[in-house]
Amino acid sequence: NEDVVKMSVDVTQSGPEINRHIFGQFAEHLGTGIYGGIWVGPESEIPNTRGIRNDVVKALKAIKVPNVRWPGGCFADQYHWRDGIGAPEERKSRINVSWGGSPEANTFGTHEYFDFISQIGSEAFISANVGSGTVQESADWLEYLTASGSTLALERARNGHPDPYDVAFWGVGNEVWGCGGPFTPQEYITELKKFATFTNNYNANVNTQFVAVGPDSFDEYSFGYPEAIMEAWAKKTWTWDIQGLSLHMYTRGGWPAVIPATGFNESGYAAVIKETLEMDKFISDNRAIMDKFDPEHKVSIMVDEWGTWYAPTEGTNPGFLQQQNSQRDAVLAALNFNIFIRHAERVKGANIAQMINVLQAMILTEGEKMVLTPTYHTFRMYVPFQDATRLPINFNKGFYKEGTIELPRVDAIAAKGRDGKIYVAITNIDPKNNASLDLSFDEQTIKDVKGETLYASAIDAVNTFDNPNNVAPTSINASLTGSNVSVTVQPQSVTVLEIVSE
Ligand code: AHR
Repeated sequence: NEDVVKMSVDVTQSGPEINRHIFGQFAEHLGTGIYGGIWVGPESEIPNTRGIRNDVVKALKAIKVPNVRWPGGCFADQYHWRDGIGAPEERKSRINVSWGGSPEANTFGTHEYFDFISQIGSEAFISANVGSGTVQESADWLEYLTASGSTLALERARNGHPDPYDVAFWGVGNEVWGCGGPFTPQEYITELKKFATFTNNYNANVNTQFVAVGPDSFDEYSFGYPEAIMEAWAKKTWTWDIQGLSLHMYTRGGWPAVIPATGFNESGYAAVIKETLEMDKFISDNRAIMDKFDPEHKVSIMVDEWGTWYAPTEGTNPGFLQQQNSQRDAVLAALNFNIFIRHAERVKGANIAQMINVLQAMILTEGEKMVLTPTYHTFRMYVPFQDATRLPINFNKGFYKEGTIELPRVDAIAAKGRDGKIYVAITNIDPKNNASLDLSFDEQTIKDVKGETLYASAIDAVNTFDNPNNVAPTSINASLTGSNVSVTVQPQSVTVLEIVSE
């Protein structure tokens, strides 16, 4: 299908800001996500700064990670922060009950986490323990992090950090209808009120945003959550508030996860893409509920877990959730970004699961080796969309068919970047055909255009330690005719154009 797709970008009408936090990451104490992936310890032969891998830090800086959600996930509701502070040799060792029953040495704790996010230039998103923790434990942790002058603040100073930390987000539990509870919506609301009332940020530099647990697209125990929480929020007293409601949605084709990460054909590709596009309905449904109680958008949607969840890589511990990452994941990441951006009025945060070695990771490591995944490259290409202003873009998505599955052929999003340039991201979903595009920009005079594209000839192409640049962005030729941009994008590809107007 070589018909030219016409796209018109309206630069005269700007939409909402695309919150950079929709490009957030999630790093749980799970498998080798933290130990091995981030933390190797100061004595390691792997080059590190205070125990944190230099290669990983360098790679993450390039994608401008806005926040890192930590320490879980399910792990968050079994985590006791005091286990992870003080002299490393005196820290308590525990069993990671959620993930593979592996030992948790607690050598990566609060101070190591803040060191890590400061090395990559990111902000803090802490998920606090509601399931097995107490209100006092939660209150003490945020006081320890943010206060000045109190006994806890002095303890923080003795542990190496006299200045208060900035805590951008505070999750009040995780999946409390499941691994983090389990609570009914009303039971959680009772907990939420107590935790949110007594857990305080004392650092005036930051308005810590409190994020309540919301629904998961799959889990029926979570289904009543959004109404119940928003209704309670609408009737709240002055003592507590939330600024975010968490949504979780994995692309995993049911439970247990059996979709192969590689070695799939075009129908395997189409099924996964079809499922991931359900994100739009999931957000729309929850937006509608929230709009009833909060028409002014005071509470944001935080999709703080999303991504693909495939069958684990053969030979690995299934509790470690390790999987390969292919061009399909790169396309899928772009489609999810586009959905978040279309809902930018309400969606102000999202965290892909997970950053390193777990699920749809940016980075895979093995000993001293490191490789960047196709998903990493999509994140890097979308950096100009961070805090950009969405612009309306009109086009006909078209369709392509794979067996009984019908999918859109192309998808696109446009924005005006902080640097004043126009950015257009185009995904050619069709795995068989190029798409030729003709972009117009209202009355604007376009002076220059350049772009990058991420394409692989096989839909399940991956990067490996032996062939790390198999899937990597290359520059793409786009031509200017008057003020129209013409470009042909390859099948199953993600392209970002940078356009300079007068
Ligand atoms: O990301 C893996 C797990 O998925 C998280 O720990 C949990 O919150 C979710 O069920």
